[in-house]
Amino acid sequence: MTTKRAYIETYGCQMNISDTELMHGILGEHGYASAETPEEADVILVNTCAIRDHAEQRVIGRIGQLQQYRGGERNVLVGVTGCMAQRMGSDLLDRSGGVDLVMGPDGYRKLPETLRSLWKEDEPKVEAPVAPAAPPARSSGLSGGLTVLDFDPLENYEGVRARRTSAVSAWVPIQRGCNHRCTYCIVPYVRGGEKNRDAREVLDEVRALAEDGIPEVTLLGQTVNSYVAGDWDFPRLLRAVARVDGIRRVRFTSPHPNDFSRELVEVMATEPHVCDQLHLPVQSGHDRTLKRMLRRYTVDAFHEKVAWVREAIPHIALSTDIIVGFPGETDEEYEATLDLMREVRFDDAFLYKYSLRDGTPATRLPEDQFVPGEVAQARLERLIELHREIQKEINVAQVGKVEEVLVERPARRGGLQGRTDGNKVVVFEGPASLIGGFERVRLTSTTGATFAGERCSIDEVARVA
Ligand code: 5AD
Ligand code: SF4
Repeated sequence: MTTKRAYIETYGCQMNISDTELMHGILGEHGYASAETPEEADVILVNTCAIRDHAEQRVIGRIGQLQQYRGGERNVLVGVTGCMAQRMGSDLLDRSGGVDLVMGPDGYRKLPETLRSLWKEDEPKVEAPVAPAAPPARSSGLSGGLTVLDFDPLENYEGVRARRTSAVSAWVPIQRGCNHRCTYCIVPYVRGGEKNRDAREVLDEVRALAEDGIPEVTLLGQTVNSYVAGDWDFPRLLRAVARVDGIRRVRFTSPHPNDFSRELVEVMATEPHVCDQLHLPVQSGHDRTLKRMLRRYTVDAFHEKVAWVREAIPHIALSTDIIVGFPGETDEEYEATLDLMREVRFDDAFLYKYSLRDGTPATRLPEDQFVPGEVAQARLERLIELHREIQKEINVAQVGKVEEVLVERPARRGGLQGRTDGNKVVVFEGPASLIGGFERVRLTSTTGATFAGERCSIDEVARVA
């Protein structure tokens, strides 16, 4: 029998990138090789995101395109995995020409056996109903595909060896799911409640990564800093990871402001290998909006946490997520978000227009208060403009500085690309042999968001060291 090949296309957040690596790992243990393109694959999986409607529409279009590879002599299978698979369930089986498999984020261990049964069995069967916490998956005429949608409160893929795509930087999921119920967010309904991995397992994994020569890890969780397992909490785990021999950089994403404690700041400030970078999603700059979002903190409380971390690490690079046009957002509330941006001055910001997600609590807010699409669009554009101005000012002021850059890959337009400790992208000239190592690079110019740089000479390195 020839080796089967799996091609997985990933949409959405870092957790999904990490899940794709787990799926490749699981399939790899059953003899599958990874395919680089859909043409060469026996199974094509689209690992999807459900966080905004836009992301889902793109995937629906993509599934249509992938139809061309389905079936044929090799009986190529096309499947949808991830959050959108969980959200839409069996409805997806018939969309865009049909798929063979719909599998939610807790089902990946069953991939090999599910694919086997799809290839061997004549009779279609549907497995396990959608768990009660999920918005109801509308059923449809089943067209020979399989759905695997049951939640598993214990599944955190312990023991699975991820097949990693980068030899430089590794995603390490420490937590899956979310116990919060922010009213806009679909995540708790498609990924279930919070599940934390055993700290010792996490540390073993990080040690193995260091032994493989990977210098950077990013700890992942939906609310990563609420991690708790036995007598391990997040600050303790972060400190232990940062002290693993060979690990030179540790990042984490995304913390929730409520669990962002003084103790965590202390670990960030005192552990040299924890990067001077923090992504802290604020979502809105007005207390009323935050309340409707059920974020459970105030704008003042957010400012206070920013103050703690800036006091301890003055040059910290801060980033955030913001949603505009949330139901009921008045001009005044929106203006307050602009004010917050001006006050905090984030190095980076991921800015979104509210997208209604069926089954989430925000859909039940008074309909006459929903923000019209064109108003939300205008708000988004103004916010992006403000963010870009601020980001450019911050970055222009950094031109001339020498930064330690972890070299990640060849840059798209020639040269090399890497990141600073503060997570800023720098492109510079140098041989590919530098990939995977650290280089001292002088920032020579900025586009506003990213930098161009030059490697420092040996003399310069000695002077700044
Ligand atoms: N609409 C728009 N943005 C959303 N996010 C989460 N849910 C929605 C939604 N329904 C954003 C939040 C979150 C980021 C990952 O995506 O800002 O922090
Ligand atoms: Fe969604 Fe809120 Fe959980 Fe983040 S904390 S995943 S925004 S419910």
